[in-house]
Amino acid sequence: MFLAVVGALGWSVARALPPPGASKTLQGLAAARGLRWGTAVTNAQLQNPDLRRLVTSQSGLIVPESELKWDGVEAAPGRFDFSAPDRLLAFAREHGLAMRGHTLLWHEQLPAWVRALPAAELDKALATYIGTVVGHYRGQLPSWDVVNEPIADDGTGLRRTLWLERLGPDYIARALTLAHQADPKAALVINEYGLEGDDAKTARKRQAFLKLLRQLRDRGVPLDAVGLQAHLYANGSGPTTFRTLPAFLRELAALNLDIYVTELDVNDRELPAAIPERDRDVAAVYSAFLAAVLPEPRLRLITSWGLSDRTTWLNSFFPRADGLPQRPLPFDENSQAKPATAAIMAALSKP
Ligand code: XIL
Repeated sequence: MFLAVVGALGWSVARALPPPGASKTLQGLAAARGLRWGTAVTNAQLQNPDLRRLVTSQSGLIVPESELKWDGVEAAPGRFDFSAPDRLLAFAREHGLAMRGHTLLWHEQLPAWVRALPAAELDKALATYIGTVVGHYRGQLPSWDVVNEPIADDGTGLRRTLWLERLGPDYIARALTLAHQADPKAALVINEYGLEGDDAKTARKRQAFLKLLRQLRDRGVPLDAVGLQAHLYANGSGPTTFRTLPAFLRELAALNLDIYVTELDVNDRELPAAIPERDRDVAAVYSAFLAAVLPEPRLRLITSWGLSDRTTWLNSFFPRADGLPQRPLPFDENSQAKPATAAIMAALSKP
């Protein structure tokens, strides 16, 4: 009798446990298929014990959401302040997480003094900035988003930014070369959005991006990976199907590039207010997107742009017309699981 009870208990306990080696967390399931799950964080968010616990239990990597951008690091010429990103790196180390760099060269979040520089000064400031910042973290960050959003949205070529207008198209190769010189071991990434869907505009942007990547490859410019930001939409105003994405990923892989998903979230701003329906539609887009990218052998990293709906940038940048908070991330505003959590975990668990 005793053995029968122990046997029954043992069986029921064993059945409830996740498969060996794949704890039921985003990172545990990602790691079981050779990937890492990351999330964007800020020091302020990590003051919240619930958010801190969510990040340490669900992620294997953090990325500074904004505190490692130019306006946060060199607000005045030559006056570098690494205190905020250093605190994030210390947090990562304390909890056995990696941290990746985001982002060196972008046309947003630049200090006013940089925007005001003429070309010759701008090139010098860029060289000093990349050398100092990448040098400060040399050997500590596995990868950097070196250039962010270089392609024009209409796919006509490079985005017309102050970098292009003052330094010419070679600014991209220059930034990558400077970053490689400062940390030869860091994987260098060009990060872009609007590459995920099946529409004609995305197709044009992909072709413009591939043209840039092939030019860099032909010149032997150091480049290791492409970052797909993957800011997705759970409604008509953005991609909700990804049929053409696997073939695009294969084109990137053919250039010997790894693939990072770098800023994953699913915008629900144009969905009706009812939460069950919104959560269902957001979960469906996570499922469809992950089904398209997870089979890609060169996929290395999936990073969501936050883990809890409480921290999403979307409420500031793309607010819902009805003023309700968006629900774009894997966990809800109380760090609780929701349909998106189940959808992501199911996708990560599929063989
Ligand atoms: C956003 C942050 O989430 C905001 O908090 C900040 O105010 C602006 O930048 N693509 C990027 C990210 O590469 O750096 C942006 O992050 C979101 C769009």
